[in-house]
Amino acid sequence: MSQLRLDKYLADAGIGSRSQVKQYLKKGMISVNDTIVKSGDIKIRPETDIVQYQGQPVLREEFVYYMLNKPAGYVSATEDNTCETVLSLIPDSSHHDLFPVGRLDKDTEGLLLITNDGVLAHQLLSPKKHVDKTYYVEVDTAIPPAASQQFQEGIDIGEKRPTLPARLDILSPVTAHITIQEGKFHQVKRMFHAIGCEVLYLKRIRMGTLELDEALPPGGSRRLTEQELNALSR
Ligand code: URA
Repeated sequence: MSQLRLDKYLADAGIGSRSQVKQYLKKGMISVNDTIVKSGDIKIRPETDIVQYQGQPVLREEFVYYMLNKPAGYVSATEDNTCETVLSLIPDSSHHDLFPVGRLDKDTEGLLLITNDGVLAHQLLSPKKHVDKTYYVEVDTAIPPAASQQFQEGIDIGEKRPTLPARLDILSPVTAHITIQEGKFHQVKRMFHAIGCEVLYLKRIRMGTLELDEALPPGGSRRLTEQELNALSR
């Protein structure tokens, strides 16, 4: 059974920042199994110990949802032998079952949902659900004017079937927003390659109703708001 520092447990449960938690402990506002505890460095067992703040149980949430602004250089996996994973960017030590919802390439940046809710992940990733994913793209050479029509009709990227209709909004000769509903390996890069452009920079800015919070710096994360979560689950 895993053990966790009490101050970390309290901060992760949203009681307050690490320094606020320290104050609460000092003031005798925290108890573990009915005993007041004043030091945050004791280890607790979240599954069995009863932690209380001002007499109210501090519950460890079952499901958690983080928005990550993925930086380049991190792999979208739960573990990797050689590279840092996106999970290493999430400051949550009380949930050991987190995973990224879908994959962004190592060099792709932007919106990645990290959760331990397998049902929501399935809803967002299932090809049958047609969840829109929008990317900002920079390419090496001018995007041909016919590209929007070609992407709308579906193009051959070497799979059994052409891609599903995708929306292309050209922003400048070499930048665009592309919205796809599938998630084939390197899909956006392969679609641009098929029309003679190489992707130089790729950033996901939207997934379903969830928009990347531009206030998050690369590598930054935050919990989804209740509104964001409700909209996504609908
Ligand atoms: N398409 C790509 O080519 N790469 C990504 O990371 C996501 C979509």
